[in-house]
Amino acid sequence: MFHLQVTPDIRLRLLEPRDAGAVFRALDGSREHLRRWLGFVDSVQSEADTRRFIEDGLRRYAAQNGAEMGIWYQGQLAGVVGLHYIHWTHRDTALGYWLAAGFEGRGIMTAACAGLIDHLFRELQLHRVEIRAAVENTRSRRVAERLGFRYEGCRRHAEWLYDHYVDHALYGLLADEWRGPVH
Ligand SMILES: CC(C)(COP(=O)(O)OP(=O)(O)OC[C@H]1O[C@@H](n2cnc3c(N)ncnc32)[C@H](O)[C@@H]1OP(=O)(O)O)[C@@H](O)C(=O)NCCC(=O)NCCS
Repeated sequence: MFHLQVTPDIRLRLLEPRDAGAVFRALDGSREHLRRWLGFVDSVQSEADTRRFIEDGLRRYAAQNGAEMGIWYQGQLAGVVGLHYIHWTHRDTALGYWLAAGFEGRGIMTAACAGLIDHLFRELQLHRVEIRAAVENTRSRRVAERLGFRYEGCRRHAEWLYDHYVDHALYGLLADEWRGPVH
């Protein structure tokens, strides 16, 4: 199974059905924190729901059309980072991610994304990576900005979040703009 040791403390691995319990507990313990920006949180009510999400990620991985990876910090599941799709004609993909509340503020997501992006450009030879974050989601936007993504514009009412639309800030990074995982 695909895995990446990003730093001595941070490891990424493709999520497998056996991880459903850990991922569900991480999400369930952080509902309020995650719900503000992630529209799927209320639809995840059991470990079985999480297992279906993981299995869908594995199907997309097998079809070379995405992936869902766990982020382990010092051996504990801290969050998830995924590729929503891979368009091979354009060689582009989009990242989505979340951290359980207790793991914020330590640089874990920036480092995890940096390791993954390096793999996407160097090993998979992709050309473009996108991050879309709600305009007011400053923590997520800072992850994109720290990684060197360029702000490309606002996608108005791009996402329905439970009871309202949010605008998305669109960020893009091209292969020849990538400065490497450590900068
Ligand atoms: C978006 C999200 C993953 C960002 O988490 P985060 O902890 O801010 O991001 P990182 O793990 O990269 O950590 C960066 C923070 O750690 C600090 N930090 C500490 N050590 C660091 C290091 N070595 N390198 C980088 N940052 C470091 C940074 O200063 C920054 O804190 P600040 O923004 O208060 O200055 C998280 O807020 C989250 O899960 N939100 C809810 C779900 C969500 O919004 N998902 C994205 C939808 S688009």
